[in-house]
Amino acid sequence: MRVLVTGGAGYIGSHTLIELMAQGHAVCVLDNYKNATPAVLQRVRALSNGTMTDYAGDVRDGAMLDKVMTTFKPDAVVHFAGLKAVGESAEKPLDYYDVNVGGTLAVLQAMDRAGCRRIIFSSSATVYGEPVYLPYDEDHPTRPTSVYGQTKLAAEHILTGWTKANPDAAAVILRYFNPVGAHHSARIGEDPRDTPNNLMPFIAQVAIGKRDALTIFGDDYDTPDGTGLRDYIHVVDLARAHVAALDYAARTNGAGIFNIGTGQSYSVRDMVSAFSRACGRDIAVKVASRRAGDIAAMQADASRARHAMGWTATHTLEDMTASTWAWQSANPNGYQTETDTSKITP
Ligand code: NAD
Ligand code: UD1
Repeated sequence: MRVLVTGGAGYIGSHTLIELMAQGHAVCVLDNYKNATPAVLQRVRALSNGTMTDYAGDVRDGAMLDKVMTTFKPDAVVHFAGLKAVGESAEKPLDYYDVNVGGTLAVLQAMDRAGCRRIIFSSSATVYGEPVYLPYDEDHPTRPTSVYGQTKLAAEHILTGWTKANPDAAAVILRYFNPVGAHHSARIGEDPRDTPNNLMPFIAQVAIGKRDALTIFGDDYDTPDGTGLRDYIHVVDLARAHVAALDYAARTNGAGIFNIGTGQSYSVRDMVSAFSRACGRDIAVKVASRRAGDIAAMQADASRARHAMGWTATHTLEDMTASTWAWQSANPNGYQTETDTSKITP
């Protein structure tokens, strides 16, 4: 298939490009480099034999989308482009609605104009909110507690409405759990700007000596060791879920919602111990109070994705920590270790 990948230079997008090209799909990236650098695509090209074109542009720009649609003529869109920081979403709610909801609307409108009828959408397990039961299945109530989560849920509703109005259309909504890890080549990985919000990149920066200690946000949860439990998923497994979703979208119509996780959960202390084994170093930790908005535990029931799309995660916790460490140690400053100095400050 010919696949337009919005936000393809980002963390999950870049890994997905590699998996798509490995399966023979032709890809085209549209990214405004708000949270990425063009150097990512150079590295993706070096790791792949496939066909890839790219455009620098914004998903809210209808004229740019029309240009990409008429030039590339995609059969499907994988829509990653978006803003993802929960804390920031409370400070800049309009930006989050504009990019995450407005961007999705603009993409669908451009698809309508071009007659493109298949889309895969990056949603998040955060749409569920406080668990009523665990593991979450896709029928669990959706009560997101952050603006970020609300924008993802709003976009899901738009996609569902679009497929109802267009019986020949397919939207596959993937609710990601906690993506971690890096490509086995150690050439692409997660490269957070500023202080990492998420656990794994923070631990990796402690291990490499960029930060003194990990702050554990609460060890008084009702969990076996008191720290938060999460369903961490290797980014390559997540990337492959998009390939499976495209195959699924090619043979179905309507909207499908799928949890993308492993179905296993690990605590913060489990992750610290596993990372310490992977890098052969101690990871200093200090315990602080709970982070506002955090929940004790999250875990996916990923059986729907297995049954309907034939997708299942195969990477282990060791794969997650070892690949993160390989990426972090080979690229202590992320993509800026390259001659590239084009990291654009938003
Ligand atoms: P990322 O920030 O690395 O990638 C997003 C990409 O979109 C970046 O390359 C950025 O430059 C681009 N972008 C942002 N706004 C844009 C715009 N207006 N027009 C064009 N490009 C734009 O994030 P990621 O971790 O790869 O996440 C990808 C998607 O998955 C996001 O939609 C995110 O909300 C969702 N998601 C991520 C996680 C996670 O933990 N990483 C979890 C659940 C869902
Ligand atoms: C966060 C987002 C969520 C998003 C997910 C994956 C919040 C409130 N939620 O969830 O919307 O879908 O990332 O990108 O931000 N932790 C520490 N110290 C740290 C960082 C994290 O102890 O420095 C703990 C957290 O309390 C949590 C676990 O590690 O128990 C995982 O945290 P994180 O990686 O931020 O993911 P989530 O909180 O699950």
